[in-house]
Amino acid sequence: MTRLEVEVTAAGTGVEAAVAVGVPVFAAEPAPELAAGVAGHPALAGGVAELAGTLDPTWCAQRGFAARPGQVLHVGGGPGRPALALVGLGSRAGLDPERWRRAAAALVRSAGERGAVAFLVPDSALAGPPPGTDGAAGRPPAAVTGAALAEGAVLAAYRFDPFRSAPRPGAPERLLVVPGTEAIRADLARGTGRGARAARAVSFARDLINTPPSHLPPARMAERVADELGGIEGVRVEVWDEARAEAERLGGLLGVSRGSVQPPRLVWATFEPAGPAGPDESGRPPHIVLVGKGITFDSGGLSLKTAEGMTTMKTDMSGAAIVLSTLAACRDLGVGCRVTALAPLAENMPGGRALKPGDVLTIRNGATVEVLNTDAEGRLVLADALSLAAELEPDAIVDVATLTGAATVALGRGIAALFGNDERLVERVRRSGELAGERLWPLPLPEDYQEHIDSDVADMKNVGRAGEAGAIAAALLLARFVKAVPWAHLDIAGTGRSAESSGYVSKGGTGFGVRTLLELLASYDRPPG
Ligand code: BES
Ligand code: MN
Ligand code: ZN
Repeated sequence: MTRLEVEVTAAGTGVEAAVAVGVPVFAAEPAPELAAGVAGHPALAGGVAELAGTLDPTWCAQRGFAARPGQVLHVGGGPGRPALALVGLGSRAGLDPERWRRAAAALVRSAGERGAVAFLVPDSALAGPPPGTDGAAGRPPAAVTGAALAEGAVLAAYRFDPFRSAPRPGAPERLLVVPGTEAIRADLARGTGRGARAARAVSFARDLINTPPSHLPPARMAERVADELGGIEGVRVEVWDEARAEAERLGGLLGVSRGSVQPPRLVWATFEPAGPAGPDESGRPPHIVLVGKGITFDSGGLSLKTAEGMTTMKTDMSGAAIVLSTLAACRDLGVGCRVTALAPLAENMPGGRALKPGDVLTIRNGATVEVLNTDAEGRLVLADALSLAAELEPDAIVDVATLTGAATVALGRGIAALFGNDERLVERVRRSGELAGERLWPLPLPEDYQEHIDSDVADMKNVGRAGEAGAIAAALLLARFVKAVPWAHLDIAGTGRSAESSGYVSKGGTGFGVRTLLELLASYDRPPG
């Protein structure tokens, strides 16, 4: 984890120490335009290159600078004198938090290997809520913009180096956010505080996901998470070992881990918000249960993956990392609802005691599943955890899982598949994703596809039809374990990992889902939109 500190300065000061000062520029005709309030801003007086109110079209064209979102052009600078960084935000119309995230990320990526970088945020350049969201949750534009800036900057600075003998060239250590005027300073600072905290949660998830699989088998992952969560006020963590899993009849989890020498674990973490618990039982805050797939390595089991297919399978515990990291940030972000995170952790291996195709498992809720492909293991461990979640009778269950290659085939690596049994919850999760800049797209759970998972010998089988609706077949199986509780399911097989670092996404585990879940939990502080 790399820590970039975010600081909001007083409006007129503080950028001398920076290697570069970013200023927002909007795409326009005939030439990009500096955001109003940049030229003549007191923070730029002395040192930084002189700026007129407008940019010369020819000068911009010669440098190929069109102020596209995430485009950065450094001008001037020298010993003891910060460069000016023109940072593209695209057109002024429809400016949303996502473009600020990308701008901050681009500035950080362009700004050298240590030290500080500054970003001037004129009052005229604050982002509105993204279209289709409920007024950005009633937050002032400066807070929304500050949060986006901090998220983009901190996540772009993320590096994973604990397994290198020498750390590689890094990123700036500090971001100085300079308000256009003092009027927006407090809201901007509130926003950067929240954004940096959310980004820290994402970074923790990335660290877990990127850790080599033999360094993080189920027992070690549970310990590491318990260390991180222990001591946070309002948070309790319990770890179930194999014996407890047997006593609790977690047949899916035990079945999947049978082929491995590593015993399974189930992490059960709860968060209780501070403050009065309401006048009576029914007045208690809503309870949301998050469930995350935690396969610490997925070899496929006896239905073994190809050599190539398993190169990325240390990331198959992304869902667990994401829900547990989300829970870790609830206290700092002032989440007002009760949250439970359940993470079934197992290693899927082809050892001598491994599950065999044709075996039948009995899940926690008594339902039986014929395992025809041991590589469809995620749904087996999730079936147990979702059964437990449903027993708690919460207001909603949301699970996150790197579940099916079919989700990637359907939506690619930029968009996660969203499923659910409750339209209002699905819409609420979708909006949360939109606010967070994490793209989700709903897929159906058609009743007439239920027969895809009919088994000859058990209540259901763990695979659907070859080449048909694989993400849906998996989701239909999960749906059987949540009873009537409103439930949403994110299949992040495509978005959970990135082959490249770009913008605020880093190569390897992305932590996709943490910020959506944090937005979702925050949404329970206000009436459903
Ligand atoms: N963990 C995989 C899904 C996956 C694949 C995630 C690639 C990220 C990248 C999952 O356990 C799996 O193997 N699913 C199978 C299911 C099939 C056997 C029905 C798949 O998608 O091929
Ligand atoms: Mn698998
Ligand atoms: Zn898997």
